[in-house]
Amino acid sequence: MAAYEYETHEYDVVVVGAGGAGLRATLGMAEQGLRTACITKVFPTRSHTVAAQGGIAASLGNMGPDHWQWHMYDTVKGSDWLGDTDAMEYLAREAPKAVYELEHYGVPFSRTEAGKIYQRPFGGHTTEFGEGPPVQRTCAAADRTGHAILHTLYGQSLKQKAEFFIEYFAIDLIMSEDGQCQGVVAWKLDDGSIHVFASKMVVLATGGYGRAYFSATSAHTCTGDGGGMVARAGLPLQDMEFVQFHPTGIYGAGCLITEGARGEGGYLTNSEGERFMERYAPTYKDLASRDVVSRCMTMEIREGRGVGAGKDHIHLNLSHLPPETLAERLPGISESAKIFAGVDVTKEPIPVLPTVHYNMGGIPTNYWGEVLNPTADNPDNIAPGLMAVGEAGCASVHGANRLGSNSLIDLVVFGRAAAIRAKDVVDPTTAVPTPNQASIDAALSRFDGLRYAEGQTPTAELRLEMQKTMQADAAVFRTEKTLADGVRNMTAIAGKMGDIKVTDRSLIWNSDLMETLELTNLMPNALATVVSAEARKESRGAHAHEDYPDRDDANWRKHTLSWVEAENVRLAYRPVHLEPLSTAEDGGIDVAKIAPKARVY
Ligand code: FUM
Repeated sequence: MAAYEYETHEYDVVVVGAGGAGLRATLGMAEQGLRTACITKVFPTRSHTVAAQGGIAASLGNMGPDHWQWHMYDTVKGSDWLGDTDAMEYLAREAPKAVYELEHYGVPFSRTEAGKIYQRPFGGHTTEFGEGPPVQRTCAAADRTGHAILHTLYGQSLKQKAEFFIEYFAIDLIMSEDGQCQGVVAWKLDDGSIHVFASKMVVLATGGYGRAYFSATSAHTCTGDGGGMVARAGLPLQDMEFVQFHPTGIYGAGCLITEGARGEGGYLTNSEGERFMERYAPTYKDLASRDVVSRCMTMEIREGRGVGAGKDHIHLNLSHLPPETLAERLPGISESAKIFAGVDVTKEPIPVLPTVHYNMGGIPTNYWGEVLNPTADNPDNIAPGLMAVGEAGCASVHGANRLGSNSLIDLVVFGRAAAIRAKDVVDPTTAVPTPNQASIDAALSRFDGLRYAEGQTPTAELRLEMQKTMQADAAVFRTEKTLADGVRNMTAIAGKMGDIKVTDRSLIWNSDLMETLELTNLMPNALATVVSAEARKESRGAHAHEDYPDRDDANWRKHTLSWVEAENVRLAYRPVHLEPLSTAEDGGIDVAKIAPKARVY
């Protein structure tokens, strides 16, 4: 192996990733005086949160009555009763505080006539514990909410003197012999230098792994880097079978058209011009939850009622909306529709198709963001020194299906929670432990092996094979056959990592090597997804198994854990947390309200 010199940095906390969750954690850590570094492979304001459009859910009640208990109920039902009850309560209760903090930090939310934060309807968000009309709960900055949040949090983090290491790629976690996370090894992309970040706490905020699929709304940077590092550290991933398809990706291009478009009054039609959601979800129609709408669209297409020459997509209609609503509330998607579909939304429908959008699964954590390393005796055992927040983590607040606009609130509530917890578990007065040399050497050896990889299979070729397999075999609808094919195909594809071919040996701006490192992260995420999906013999949330069409709470209301080593996946299960944080007597939710029942919209 080539000899690698490296520079060592010491911090109380190292946050990996600078999207909404990473920046909120960074800001919170720095605010309370912890020496905090944020390392990120892209410039912070280019993180994928910038693409979040429709908004952030919180029961502010600015547009009509709302309560955190209603938000919690909707989240429980949205999760198809797989979310952890304590985490879902924490999310719904803390959401208003977290949004007002954002407002005070300077997020330029859209406003009502009265000057309050504007809120719009979003799928699955209701009143009266699902018995009342849709609620306007999603706080929006036009249709560029993620952009507004990201810029504000980055500015505030700089103000708090958090230190940013921009365009540094995290190679691997540094783990002690007894399982304590002690930092990360990173590669600085613009000058090729190697850096060891030693810390008392590492927070993984690396986002999802949408790019394991061929067509995704996710940025090309969404390569599951945190999940890859965790898998290599011998820790499990959780609930990876649950992959969300957003109903309205632009047909062909895959770019997101926000659910806010339906929140503002847009609707879907098939080739007969029929508003088909009225048949499937008579109460909430186009504002049913995402997994439901995506399945209904797929059924319409399968039954020959798709639009276009190939009858293979659906129309999203906005032209009936007042032009001023489109201009004020939906300017971004009006522009995207023009650029990517050649459509003038004031006159024509947008061609759309369910498109991979979000990973409900990820690195298991408690609601403080502490990573779990479940043992036979303790399913909630904590992996010391390691946290995960945002889409990289699985708290588990979304269970089997996430509600739209519950992602941005997850980022800020749990980024903030990680900082609150760090105050108790990170002591700024002690020395940073010397990181385990063997673990650093192992990371560098892996890096060097990939840098000089001399196989026959170019990275881009193997990545495409993986993406096409995932798209075909772990899709909106799944069967015994597609999943068995998926496991066989993905196992073979992961087996080809040993034959990878990297042609550029340099260390400076070597995108070939960086994409190869990313592929080593995508691969365990993809493999865990398809193996976990094949094992789950029921339908729940985003996991629609045609051979097991019903939810089976007696046997399957449990979280899947998956340990991935090369092309092998080992599965185990851990119980869902059923207890809320507070009782009805203390002002909490009445547990009878959140008892499992049929999930209809
Ligand atoms: O449709 C959207 O604006 C996406 C929101 C989300 O995924 O939460």
